[in-house]
Amino acid sequence: MTLRIFIPRDAGALAVGADEVTEALVNVAASRGIAIDTVRTGSRGLYWLEPMLEVATAQGRVAFGPVTEDDVGSVLDAMLADAAHPLRLGLTEEIPWLKRQTRLSFGRCGVIDPSSLDDYRAHDGYKGLARALTLTPDAIIADVTTSGLRGRGGAGFPTGIKWKTVAATDADRKFIVCNADEGDSGTFADRMLFEGDPFVVIEGMTIAGIAVGATKGYIYIRSEYPHAIAATNIAIAAAQRAGFLGANICGTAHSFDLEVRVGAGAYVCGEETALLESIEGRRGIVRAKPPLPAHKGLFGKPTVINNVLSFAAIPFILAGGAQAYADCGMGRSRGTMPIQLAGNIKHGGLFEVAFGITLGELVDEVGGGTLSGRPVRAVQVGGPLGAYFPRELFDTPFDYEAFAKRDGLIGHGGIVVFDDSVDMSKQARFAMEFCAVESCGKCTPCRIGSTRGVETIDRIRKGERVAENTAVLEDLCHTLKFGSLCALGGFTSYPVMSALKHFPEDFGAAPPRLQAAE
Ligand SMILES: Cc1cc2nc3c(=O)[nH]c(=O)nc-3n(C[C@H](O)[C@H](O)[C@H](O)COP(=O)(O)O)c2cc1C
Ligand code: SF4
Repeated sequence: MTLRIFIPRDAGALAVGADEVTEALVNVAASRGIAIDTVRTGSRGLYWLEPMLEVATAQGRVAFGPVTEDDVGSVLDAMLADAAHPLRLGLTEEIPWLKRQTRLSFGRCGVIDPSSLDDYRAHDGYKGLARALTLTPDAIIADVTTSGLRGRGGAGFPTGIKWKTVAATDADRKFIVCNADEGDSGTFADRMLFEGDPFVVIEGMTIAGIAVGATKGYIYIRSEYPHAIAATNIAIAAAQRAGFLGANICGTAHSFDLEVRVGAGAYVCGEETALLESIEGRRGIVRAKPPLPAHKGLFGKPTVINNVLSFAAIPFILAGGAQAYADCGMGRSRGTMPIQLAGNIKHGGLFEVAFGITLGELVDEVGGGTLSGRPVRAVQVGGPLGAYFPRELFDTPFDYEAFAKRDGLIGHGGIVVFDDSVDMSKQARFAMEFCAVESCGKCTPCRIGSTRGVETIDRIRKGERVAENTAVLEDLCHTLKFGSLCALGGFTSYPVMSALKHFPEDFGAAPPRLQAAE
């Protein structure tokens, strides 16, 4: 009998020793004469259990984790004998954390070998494209519209409308661009998907190309993601070899090809127009809108630019799931959101669930509270430009409009948790400093205002004329919010103002414990 053992090659699992565990496993099995077949997968997203190994059994896969090199011998024994083990987690699909999810985009992540097109196809891969090839472009876009999908990069713009605009714009060439810059703090869903199921993004982009009449696409990935870049290039080559990319896709008249472009590491390059500048070989500076990229985007041509997660939702929708997708969620937030739990949290990871789950459920039940065991004091949702929410707002449902109503945003779905040792004036300062460091410099409120903001917060933290300086800070935030060209400057007011509003006690003289520490 050969044991088939699945081990993640996801960067998060590698960081805690997945390669070393694999090597130890292979060595122990060889020395004991046990036949094993190891398959490297992505991660299931339960990061506190990584490296999480799974063994195929007649009942399904059984998981063990977190496994260290020292555990390998006994884990192998338990796998062979189907016996109890302290690290045995039971049938993977029955782990409550996984069972509570609705994995429409991440269904294959952690399950398949991301380099194997056959594995992808054996798990319903390319069914969306197969159906799309039988439809007119208008019918494809109608499906995307029916699904209610909104862009997962942050702004939540309806994907169907974006595609329709590009399809309706006449041009000799059009482009599809996938935004995988993923600069938001506490987010890693894009990376996970490329490392665990890159074909789903490739398939989504191919369908977009057919829908709008584009024959070329670019995937813009940040340089900090070397494993994702490698996995994506392997998948693109496999899709090209099999006729899923290139000229005459699957023997049809449609052609579409893809190329990876690697960003050099600037937060603003995630902003869609700065990203286009970067692909074109220039410094990442924001372009004034209009014209919208949908009308005049990459190389001046109509361009669909969507986040990784937006494209990843497309194959399910086109495989006949448009209504099923729309049936999930609440209000105008339809479908599922791959939520990323990070920071000081016990059970951090990727949790894909229908919109509507509350912040409190996510932090307390799913996340299990803080890793430090101290009370949760604040959570920042939506990346470095997202608001800080106190526990009093934990009844907020995960929904674009519900968060906006409370001066927050869900952004790319990242939640960063802080315990009661956090100093919120320091966090506000960090937000302003981040804006100052990452500003592209094109407009004055952001370029100059953020630096003045840091100075003003420093004065408040030192206890200098606190009331007057707080008024100056509020005024600055107002100017940033309404006078900035893009959301980097515009949204910096969210973390700063939310910290000021919900945690005013941290904006007097610096708390004694911090004075002692600094
Ligand atoms: C400063 C800044 C950084 C951004 N970073 C990202 C990013 O890393 N990934 C992303 O998909 N969108 C990012 N966006 C949003 C994009 O400009 C754009 O709205 C998005 O790529 C559109 O795709 P979607 O409709 O699928 O969300 C950023 C926006 C701003 C203002
Ligand atoms: S708000 Fe900041 S990042 Fe955005 S265009 Fe202006 S200077 Fe550039």
